[in-house]
Amino acid sequence: MNPTFSLTPETSIAIVGAGRLGGVLARALRASGFDVRGPSRRADEIPETDIAILAVPDAAIADAAKSTKSTRTVHLSGATSLDAVDFSIHPLQTFTGTESPEVFHGIGAAIDGRTDDDKSLARDLARALGMTPFTVTDRAAYHAAASFASNFVLTVLDAAEQLATAAGVENPREVLAPLVRQSVDNWQHEGAADALTGPIVRGDELTVATQRAATGAHRDLFDALATATRRIAGPRNPEADLHSLEKDRA
Ligand SMILES: NC(=O)c1ccc[n+]([C@@H]2O[C@H](COP(=O)([O-])OP(=O)(O)OC[C@H]3O[C@@H](n4cnc5c(N)ncnc54)[C@H](OP(=O)(O)O)[C@@H]3O)[C@@H](O)[C@H]2O)c1
Repeated sequence: MNPTFSLTPETSIAIVGAGRLGGVLARALRASGFDVRGPSRRADEIPETDIAILAVPDAAIADAAKSTKSTRTVHLSGATSLDAVDFSIHPLQTFTGTESPEVFHGIGAAIDGRTDDDKSLARDLARALGMTPFTVTDRAAYHAAASFASNFVLTVLDAAEQLATAAGVENPREVLAPLVRQSVDNWQHEGAADALTGPIVRGDELTVATQRAATGAHRDLFDALATATRRIAGPRNPEADLHSLEKDRA
C-alpha cells in the first residue's frame, strides 16, 4: 500500500495523454502552482512523480497505469472502475482542448478512491483546481447522465440546425442559441416538467403531426424525443397516436 501523503505545492504531478483534457489540465495544475511534468504522449516517457494523471482514452487506462512509475495513479474517466488506479476525478465539463485554466473553476467533479486517504487526495486535488467534488454510487448511470447533458444535447442541436437550414434560416446557430440558453436556464431553475412549453404540452396534436411530417431524415429522432417529451408532459397531455394523426391528414 502507498504511504499517506498530503497535497502540497511541491507535489509533483505527471500528465499522461496530450489530448483534449490532458493539455488544459496541465495548464490548470501549473497555474495552481504544482510541479507538473507533461502532458506526455506515452506513459513510459515521463519521470517518476508523486501522482500520475492518466488523461488517456478509457480503454487505455489499464495499460497506461502499468507503465507509470509514480506513487499514485488517477484517471479522469466518469465510467471506468478504480481497478487500475488509486483514485479518480471526473471533471463534469466538456473539454475540446482550447480552454483556459479557469475552465475548472466552479464545475463539479465526481471523485472516488480505493482508500479514505485516496478519496481525500482526490477531493483535495479537485478543490485545488477550483472544482466542487462529489461522490456517486453508480458510475455507469452517472456517466450516462453526463452523456445526456452534453453529447446528446449536441446531437439534438445538430438536428435542429439541419432542419433550420433546410427551412431557409441563414444563421441557424445564432438564432437558435438564445432559445437553447433560455430552455437550459428554465430547466435548471424549475425542472423539465415546469419548463416545458410547445405543442406537445399544449395538446396541439395537429401541430405536432405537421412538424413530424417535415422532419425527413430526423423522423426517428423526432419520434423518440416526442415519446419521451409526452412522458414529461404527463397527464396534461393524453397519449396520442402521431402516426394515425398523420394518416388522417393525408
Ligand atoms: N474531453 C472531455 O470532455 C472529457 C471530460 C471529462 C473526462 N474526460 C476523460 O479524460 C480522459 C481523456 O479524454 P480526452 O477527451 O482528453 O481524450 P483524447 O482527446 O482522445 O486524448 C487522449 C490522449 O491519450 C493518448 N493516448 C492514447 N492511448 C495512450 C496510451 N496507451 N498511453 C498513453 N497515451 C495514450 C492519445 O495520444 P494519441 O493522440 O497519440 O493517440 C491522446 O493524446 C478520458 O478518460 C475521458 O473519459 C474527458
